[in-house]
Amino acid sequence: MSEFIINGKKRLSGEAEVQGSKNAALPILAATLLTKGENVILNCPALSDVDAATRILRCLGADVSRQGSALLINCDGISCPVVPDSLMREMRGSIVFLGAMLARCGRARVSYPGGCELGPRPIDLHLKALRALGAEISERHGVLECTASKGLKGAKIALSFPSVGATENIILAAVCADGTTTITNAAREPEVVDLCDFLCEAGAEIYGAGEGTVVIEGVKSLGAASHTIIPDRIVAATLMSAAAVTGSEIVLKDIVASHLGAVIPVFEEAGCEIKSYRGSLRIKAPERLSALSLLRTMPYPGFPTDAQAPLMAVASVCRGTSVFAENIFESRYKHVDGLRRLGADIDIEGKVAVVKGVETLYGAKLQAHDLRGAAGLLIAALCAEGKSRLSGICYLERGYESFETVLSSLGADVMKV
Ligand code: EPZ
Repeated sequence: MSEFIINGKKRLSGEAEVQGSKNAALPILAATLLTKGENVILNCPALSDVDAATRILRCLGADVSRQGSALLINCDGISCPVVPDSLMREMRGSIVFLGAMLARCGRARVSYPGGCELGPRPIDLHLKALRALGAEISERHGVLECTASKGLKGAKIALSFPSVGATENIILAAVCADGTTTITNAAREPEVVDLCDFLCEAGAEIYGAGEGTVVIEGVKSLGAASHTIIPDRIVAATLMSAAAVTGSEIVLKDIVASHLGAVIPVFEEAGCEIKSYRGSLRIKAPERLSALSLLRTMPYPGFPTDAQAPLMAVASVCRGTSVFAENIFESRYKHVDGLRRLGADIDIEGKVAVVKGVETLYGAKLQAHDLRGAAGLLIAALCAEGKSRLSGICYLERGYESFETVLSSLGADVMKV
């Protein structure tokens, strides 16, 4: 089991490139199932979750190879629409393969997806929407048998919540369906837009991606595409948090500032100076940060739940009291125990966390329980006095590519042992 050893209180400086987005890459990998010919997916991060998605593709009969940060994917040989339970359990994102497999093969067998434990993560919205598109779905002992014997047909689907995964699954099932599909209350996340961009490059007709209503005109078939994955806005927010807690000035390259629309004002409120220009962002933190008034996680364009844990590490060392409301997932405060071990003063009442900033955190032994929680603990350890040990970094590696190397190149003292 690997661990990180972190010697805190090192000032950061310099430039870091932000990796491609995990949550954009996963549905795009699923979307390649619908295409003919060789796809080139550029800026695809080397992460354990991306690796799991490539293993699903290979198990379905696809040809997948990596050349540096590009994945070459050819799905002409897809034969068997069954994903083994062991692969489905590796990550939550595996559920988007369901819509794509149904569209490609007319049937699919999958089990319930795994992923980080963030509380109950039902897939009722996915299944209801796929049924509306003509799929027959039965469930036995956790295995979903799905068929579309008469093919998938366009439908009007109103989501009761703008679920990212459900929106992606519907789009994947609908691009080659017969007729028009309209999704209202669709998720507007940049990762959904990136999926639609890939599909349109391959020949799909999708209108309104990034808006609340998305219209998909079914087409007969899709060709291959060459597509560059968008930069990861959560990795960018995590690196901004690293700069903030260490009182540093750094430059992030390869970012899309508009994707950070709800994140940048939070750092400014804490006293950081931020300038963004032509795909780069400079952040300069003050010696002591000011408290954040109320940080509420919301669907995009609201503040992302995935950046809540790193920002809680920031709030732990702000002057004054910050309040968090986690509105997306029920159990997304698992990093709080670790932050308290470092000396943070945090009270939780249901979905609200009250963080009274302390002047200094002190190194401790830490255990990560989920991906973003691991990032939050690592950020806090960067500004703690003395040495911290962080175990459970397999969670971090689901979403952050060689993060210890990125942080070390900025001057942090983080070692993987
Ligand atoms: C995606 O998960 C991301 N994962 C998550 O990132 C991210 O936190 C989340 O969107 C919200 O932004 C991927 O893209 C692979 P949702 P997803 O469906 O699609 C409820 C990370 O750390 N819901 O928008 O699973 C659900 O329980 C991860 O990178 C239903 O009730 O998110 C949750 O409370 C973790 N029924 C809320 O909606 C459903 O059928 C949001 O879920 C579907 C969802």
